[in-house]
Amino acid sequence: MKTKTILVTRKFPESGIQLLEQRGFRLSLWDRDRPMTQEELIAEAKKHNSLFCTLTDRIDRNFLNQCSHLEIISQFAVGFDNIDVKCATELGIPIGFTPDAMSEATADIAFGLMIAVARKMFFMHKTISRGQWGSFNPTGHLGIELKNRTLGIFGLGRIGLKMAERCKNAYNMKIIYHNRSRSTRAEQETGACHVSFDELLARSDVLSVHCILSPETRHIFNKAAFRKMKDSAIFINTARGPVHNEKDLIQAVKNREILGAGLDVTDPEPMSPESELLEMENVCVLPHIGSATIEARNQMSMLAAENIIGFYENGRPVHVVNPEVFDS
Ligand code: GLV
Repeated sequence: MKTKTILVTRKFPESGIQLLEQRGFRLSLWDRDRPMTQEELIAEAKKHNSLFCTLTDRIDRNFLNQCSHLEIISQFAVGFDNIDVKCATELGIPIGFTPDAMSEATADIAFGLMIAVARKMFFMHKTISRGQWGSFNPTGHLGIELKNRTLGIFGLGRIGLKMAERCKNAYNMKIIYHNRSRSTRAEQETGACHVSFDELLARSDVLSVHCILSPETRHIFNKAAFRKMKDSAIFINTARGPVHNEKDLIQAVKNREILGAGLDVTDPEPMSPESELLEMENVCVLPHIGSATIEARNQMSMLAAENIIGFYENGRPVHVVNPEVFDS
Protein backbone atom coordinates (compact mmCIF):
# COMPACT_ATOMS: atom_id res chain seq x y z
CA MET A 1 0.00 0.00 0.00
CA LYS A 2 1.29 3.46 -0.90
CA THR A 3 2.14 5.43 2.26
CA LYS A 4 -0.99 7.23 3.43
CA THR A 5 -0.72 10.79 4.69
CA ILE A 6 -2.76 12.11 7.60
CA LEU A 7 -3.36 15.72 8.57
CA VAL A 8 -3.47 15.95 12.38
CA THR A 9 -5.27 19.22 13.15
CA ARG A 10 -4.35 19.79 16.83
CA LYS A 11 -1.78 18.67 19.40
CA PHE A 12 -3.29 15.36 20.48
CA PRO A 13 -2.01 12.93 23.14
CA GLU A 14 1.00 10.99 21.88
CA SER A 15 -0.60 7.54 22.32
CA GLY A 16 -2.55 7.60 19.05
CA ILE A 17 0.04 9.60 17.13
CA GLN A 18 2.78 7.09 17.95
CA LEU A 19 0.55 4.19 17.03
CA LEU A 20 -0.09 5.67 13.59
CA GLU A 21 3.60 6.41 13.04
CA GLN A 22 4.52 2.86 14.07
CA ARG A 23 2.05 1.54 11.49
CA GLY A 24 3.82 3.46 8.73
CA PHE A 25 1.45 6.42 8.18
CA ARG A 26 3.02 9.79 7.35
CA LEU A 27 1.64 12.44 9.69
CA SER A 28 1.60 16.24 9.36
CA LEU A 29 1.17 17.64 12.87
CA TRP A 30 -0.35 21.09 13.41
CA ASP A 31 1.66 22.22 16.42
CA ARG A 32 0.11 25.62 17.23
CA ASP A 33 -2.04 26.02 20.34
CA ARG A 34 -4.96 27.31 18.32
CA PRO A 35 -7.20 25.52 15.84
CA MET A 36 -6.42 26.00 12.14
CA THR A 37 -8.36 28.70 10.35
CA GLN A 38 -10.81 27.40 7.77
CA GLU A 39 -8.46 28.45 4.95
CA GLU A 40 -5.51 26.67 6.59
CA LEU A 41 -7.62 23.57 7.22
CA ILE A 42 -8.83 23.34 3.63
CA ALA A 43 -5.41 24.09 2.12
CA GLU A 44 -3.68 21.46 4.28
CA ALA A 45 -6.41 18.82 4.01
CA LYS A 46 -6.15 18.99 0.22
CA LYS A 47 -2.60 17.62 0.48
CA HIS A 48 -3.51 14.56 2.60
CA ASN A 49 -5.37 11.27 2.32
CA SER A 50 -7.16 11.54 5.64
CA LEU A 51 -7.89 13.73 8.63
CA PHE A 52 -7.35 13.28 12.38
CA CYS A 53 -9.47 16.14 13.74
CA THR A 54 -11.68 17.29 16.60
CA LEU A 55 -14.69 19.39 17.50
CA THR A 56 -12.91 22.72 16.96
CA ASP A 57 -12.56 21.90 13.24
CA ARG A 58 -15.49 22.94 11.05
CA ILE A 59 -16.06 20.06 8.64
CA ASP A 60 -18.98 21.61 6.79
CA ARG A 61 -20.33 21.19 3.27
CA ASN A 62 -17.93 23.76 1.84
CA PHE A 63 -14.94 21.99 3.41
CA LEU A 64 -16.15 18.57 2.28
CA ASN A 65 -16.86 19.64 -1.28
CA GLN A 66 -13.34 21.04 -1.53
CA CYS A 67 -11.80 17.99 0.14
CA SER A 68 -13.99 15.22 -1.27
CA HIS A 69 -10.82 13.19 -1.95
CA LEU A 70 -10.47 12.46 1.81
CA GLU A 71 -10.60 8.72 2.46
CA ILE A 72 -11.51 8.85 6.16
CA ILE A 73 -12.16 11.57 8.73
CA SER A 74 -11.26 10.40 12.21
CA GLN A 75 -12.81 12.60 14.89
CA PHE A 76 -11.19 12.77 18.34
CA ALA A 77 -14.50 13.18 20.26
CA VAL A 78 -17.73 11.37 20.93
CA GLY A 79 -19.79 14.31 19.59
CA PHE A 80 -19.67 15.12 15.87
CA ASP A 81 -21.92 18.16 15.44
CA ASN A 82 -18.97 20.03 13.90
CA ILE A 83 -19.20 17.64 10.93
CA ASP A 84 -21.83 17.66 8.18
CA VAL A 85 -22.33 13.90 8.39
CA LYS A 86 -25.04 13.90 5.70
CA CYS A 87 -22.68 15.51 3.20
CA ALA A 88 -19.77 13.22 4.16
CA THR A 89 -22.05 10.23 3.66
CA GLU A 90 -23.17 11.49 0.25
CA LEU A 91 -19.49 11.75 -0.68
CA GLY A 92 -18.80 8.26 0.71
CA ILE A 93 -16.39 9.48 3.41
CA PRO A 94 -16.54 7.47 6.64
CA ILE A 95 -16.42 9.39 9.93
CA GLY A 96 -14.69 7.67 12.85
CA PHE A 97 -15.41 8.80 16.42
CA THR A 98 -14.39 7.85 19.96
CA PRO A 99 -17.34 6.72 22.08
CA ASP A 100 -16.91 5.21 25.55
CA ALA A 101 -13.38 6.53 26.09
CA MET A 102 -14.63 9.52 28.07
CA SER A 103 -17.81 8.19 29.69
CA GLU A 104 -16.37 7.96 33.23
CA ALA A 105 -14.59 11.31 32.97
CA THR A 106 -17.64 13.17 31.68
CA ALA A 107 -19.98 11.56 34.19
CA ASP A 108 -17.58 12.70 36.94
CA ILE A 109 -17.95 16.28 35.71
CA ALA A 110 -21.77 16.01 35.61
CA PHE A 111 -21.81 14.48 39.10
CA GLY A 112 -19.33 17.07 40.42
CA LEU A 113 -21.33 19.96 38.96
CA MET A 114 -24.50 18.59 40.55
CA ILE A 115 -22.95 18.67 44.02
CA ALA A 116 -21.22 21.99 43.34
CA VAL A 117 -24.54 23.63 42.42
CA ALA A 118 -26.42 22.01 45.31
CA ARG A 119 -23.87 23.55 47.72
CA LYS A 120 -23.12 26.81 45.82
CA MET A 121 -19.45 25.84 45.72
CA PHE A 122 -18.12 28.06 42.94
CA PHE A 123 -19.93 31.13 44.32
CA MET A 124 -18.68 30.48 47.86
CA HIS A 125 -15.14 30.06 46.54
CA LYS A 126 -15.43 33.50 44.96
CA THR A 127 -16.55 35.11 48.25
CA ILE A 128 -13.18 34.15 49.73
CA SER A 129 -11.15 35.69 46.94
CA ARG A 130 -13.29 38.82 47.23
CA GLY A 131 -12.51 39.06 50.98
CA GLN A 132 -16.14 38.31 51.91
CA TRP A 133 -15.72 35.16 54.01
CA GLY A 134 -17.10 36.88 57.12
CA SER A 135 -17.88 34.54 60.01
CA PHE A 136 -19.57 31.16 60.34
CA ASN A 137 -23.22 31.89 59.59
CA PRO A 138 -25.84 29.47 60.95
CA THR A 139 -28.43 30.51 58.38
CA GLY A 140 -26.33 31.75 55.46
CA HIS A 141 -25.90 30.25 51.97
CA LEU A 142 -27.78 27.05 52.70
CA GLY A 143 -27.65 24.40 50.01
CA ILE A 144 -29.68 21.24 49.58
CA GLU A 145 -28.95 17.52 50.04
CA LEU A 146 -29.31 15.02 47.23
CA LYS A 147 -30.18 11.80 49.05
CA ASN A 148 -33.28 10.00 47.69
CA ARG A 149 -34.00 12.69 45.09
CA THR A 150 -34.96 12.03 41.48
CA LEU A 151 -32.38 12.24 38.71
CA GLY A 152 -33.77 12.84 35.24
CA ILE A 153 -31.50 11.97 32.31
CA PHE A 154 -32.11 13.41 28.88
CA GLY A 155 -30.32 11.09 26.44
CA LEU A 156 -29.39 7.99 28.36
CA GLY A 157 -26.45 6.46 26.51
CA ARG A 158 -23.00 5.51 27.73
CA ILE A 159 -22.31 8.73 29.66
CA GLY A 160 -25.85 9.03 31.01
CA LEU A 161 -25.61 5.50 32.36
CA LYS A 162 -22.40 6.34 34.25
CA MET A 163 -24.08 9.42 35.73
CA ALA A 164 -27.10 7.30 36.73
CA GLU A 165 -24.84 4.73 38.43
CA ARG A 166 -23.02 7.45 40.39
CA CYS A 167 -26.25 9.08 41.57
CA LYS A 168 -27.84 5.79 42.53
CA ASN A 169 -24.80 4.49 44.40
CA ALA A 170 -23.94 7.73 46.18
CA TYR A 171 -27.42 9.08 46.98
CA ASN A 172 -29.91 6.30 46.27
CA MET A 173 -31.45 8.60 43.70
CA LYS A 174 -34.42 7.38 41.67
CA ILE A 175 -33.57 7.45 37.96
CA ILE A 176 -35.99 8.52 35.23
CA TYR A 177 -34.96 9.14 31.63
CA HIS A 178 -36.18 10.29 28.26
CA ASN A 179 -34.75 8.78 25.06
CA ARG A 180 -36.14 8.03 21.64
CA SER A 181 -35.61 4.34 22.42
CA ARG A 182 -35.68 2.42 25.69
CA SER A 183 -32.41 1.41 27.37
CA THR A 184 -33.06 -2.03 28.84
CA ARG A 185 -29.50 -2.12 30.18
CA ALA A 186 -30.03 1.07 32.21
CA GLU A 187 -33.43 -0.13 33.35
CA GLN A 188 -31.91 -3.40 34.61
CA GLU A 189 -28.77 -1.90 36.13
CA THR A 190 -30.17 1.23 37.77
CA GLY A 191 -33.92 0.66 37.87
CA ALA A 192 -34.29 3.62 35.47
CA CYS A 193 -37.84 4.34 34.23
CA HIS A 194 -38.55 5.68 30.75
CA VAL A 195 -40.84 8.74 30.85
CA SER A 196 -42.17 11.33 28.40
CA PHE A 197 -40.24 14.58 27.97
CA ASP A 198 -42.89 16.52 29.91
CA GLU A 199 -42.79 14.01 32.76
CA LEU A 200 -38.99 14.26 32.85
CA LEU A 201 -39.28 18.03 33.21
CA ALA A 202 -41.98 17.84 35.86
CA ARG A 203 -40.45 15.15 38.07
CA SER A 204 -36.66 15.71 38.01
CA ASP A 205 -34.92 17.20 41.04
CA VAL A 206 -31.73 17.10 38.99
CA LEU A 207 -32.01 17.05 35.21
CA SER A 208 -28.81 16.03 33.45
CA VAL A 209 -28.36 16.35 29.67
CA HIS A 210 -26.34 13.65 27.85
CA CYS A 211 -27.78 13.72 24.31
CA ILE A 212 -26.15 14.59 21.00
CA LEU A 213 -26.76 17.99 19.45
CA SER A 214 -29.11 17.60 16.47
CA PRO A 215 -31.90 19.65 14.91
CA GLU A 216 -34.30 17.83 17.28
CA THR A 217 -32.34 18.63 20.45
CA ARG A 218 -31.17 22.18 19.61
CA HIS A 219 -32.71 24.56 22.19
CA ILE A 220 -35.03 21.87 23.50
CA PHE A 221 -34.34 23.28 26.98
CA ASN A 222 -35.97 26.64 26.42
CA LYS A 223 -38.32 28.98 28.27
CA ALA A 224 -41.26 26.59 27.91
CA ALA A 225 -39.23 23.63 29.17
CA PHE A 226 -37.72 25.48 32.16
CA ARG A 227 -41.23 26.63 33.14
CA LYS A 228 -42.32 22.99 33.38
CA MET A 229 -39.46 22.11 35.75
CA LYS A 230 -39.62 22.23 39.55
CA ASP A 231 -38.55 25.53 41.04
CA SER A 232 -36.17 23.47 43.21
CA ALA A 233 -34.58 21.66 40.21
CA ILE A 234 -30.93 21.71 39.18
CA PHE A 235 -30.18 21.68 35.43
CA ILE A 236 -26.89 20.07 34.35
CA ASN A 237 -25.50 20.15 30.81
CA THR A 238 -22.24 18.37 29.97
CA ALA A 239 -23.27 17.50 26.38
CA ARG A 240 -23.45 20.49 24.01
CA GLY A 241 -24.28 24.12 24.84
CA PRO A 242 -26.94 24.69 22.15
CA VAL A 243 -29.13 21.94 23.67
CA HIS A 244 -30.21 24.72 26.06
CA ASN A 245 -31.16 28.25 25.16
CA GLU A 246 -28.74 30.22 27.30
CA LYS A 247 -30.83 33.42 27.46
CA ASP A 248 -33.84 31.38 28.61
CA LEU A 249 -31.67 29.58 31.16
CA ILE A 250 -30.47 32.89 32.62
CA GLN A 251 -34.08 34.09 32.94
CA ALA A 252 -35.21 30.78 34.45
CA VAL A 253 -32.59 30.99 37.22
CA LYS A 254 -33.17 34.72 37.77
CA ASN A 255 -36.95 34.24 37.97
CA ARG A 256 -36.46 31.25 40.28
CA GLU A 257 -38.25 28.93 37.86
CA ILE A 258 -35.42 26.49 38.58
CA LEU A 259 -32.92 26.45 41.46
CA GLY A 260 -29.70 26.56 39.47
CA ALA A 261 -27.48 25.11 36.78
CA GLY A 262 -24.18 23.32 36.29
CA LEU A 263 -22.69 23.71 32.84
CA ASP A 264 -19.60 22.21 31.24
CA VAL A 265 -20.82 23.39 27.86
CA THR A 266 -22.20 26.80 26.93
CA ASP A 267 -23.61 28.62 23.93
CA PRO A 268 -21.49 30.19 22.60
CA GLU A 269 -18.15 28.69 23.54
CA PRO A 270 -16.08 30.20 24.94
CA MET A 271 -18.61 31.85 27.27
CA SER A 272 -18.20 35.59 27.60
CA PRO A 273 -16.49 36.53 30.90
CA GLU A 274 -19.36 39.04 31.23
CA SER A 275 -22.02 36.30 31.32
CA GLU A 276 -24.50 36.83 34.13
CA LEU A 277 -24.35 33.11 34.83
CA LEU A 278 -20.85 33.50 36.25
CA GLU A 279 -22.14 35.77 39.05
CA MET A 280 -25.07 33.61 40.11
CA GLU A 281 -25.04 31.91 43.49
CA ASN A 282 -26.58 28.67 42.20
CA VAL A 283 -24.67 28.36 38.95
CA CYS A 284 -21.34 26.60 38.33
CA VAL A 285 -19.67 26.74 34.93
CA LEU A 286 -16.66 24.84 33.57
CA PRO A 287 -14.92 25.38 30.21
CA HIS A 288 -15.84 22.13 28.38
CA ILE A 289 -13.50 19.80 30.27
CA GLY A 290 -15.73 16.71 30.45
CA SER A 291 -13.19 14.42 28.81
CA ALA A 292 -10.12 16.23 30.13
CA THR A 293 -8.42 13.44 32.09
CA ILE A 294 -5.13 11.82 31.16
CA GLU A 295 -6.86 8.45 30.93
CA ALA A 296 -9.75 9.59 28.74
CA ARG A 297 -7.69 11.70 26.37
CA ASN A 298 -5.09 8.93 25.87
CA GLN A 299 -7.85 6.47 25.16
CA MET A 300 -9.56 8.90 22.75
CA SER A 301 -6.28 9.37 20.90
CA MET A 302 -5.82 5.58 20.65
CA LEU A 303 -9.37 5.08 19.41
CA ALA A 304 -9.07 7.84 16.80
CA ALA A 305 -5.87 6.17 15.55
CA GLU A 306 -7.42 2.68 15.62
CA ASN A 307 -10.28 3.98 13.49
CA ILE A 308 -7.80 5.02 10.80
CA ILE A 309 -5.85 1.77 11.07
CA GLY A 310 -9.07 -0.27 11.02
CA PHE A 311 -10.18 1.54 7.89
CA TYR A 312 -6.94 1.06 5.94
CA GLU A 313 -6.11 -2.44 7.20
CA ASN A 314 -9.57 -4.04 7.53
CA GLY A 315 -11.76 -1.81 5.39
CA ARG A 316 -13.71 -0.30 8.31
CA PRO A 317 -13.09 2.05 11.26
CA VAL A 318 -13.72 0.43 14.66
CA HIS A 319 -16.31 3.10 15.58
CA VAL A 320 -18.05 4.75 12.66
CA VAL A 321 -20.75 7.43 12.71
CA ASN A 322 -22.06 6.70 9.19
CA PRO A 323 -21.77 2.92 8.57
CA GLU A 324 -24.08 3.33 5.57
CA VAL A 325 -21.07 4.44 3.48
CA PHE A 326 -20.01 0.77 3.52
CA ASP A 327 -23.41 -0.54 2.42
CA SER A 328 -22.95 -0.14 -1.31
C1 GLV B 1 -16.39 16.25 23.80
O1 GLV B 1 -17.15 17.16 23.95
C2 GLV B 1 -16.67 15.15 22.95
O2 GLV B 1 -17.64 15.19 22.18
O3 GLV B 1 -15.91 14.17 23.00
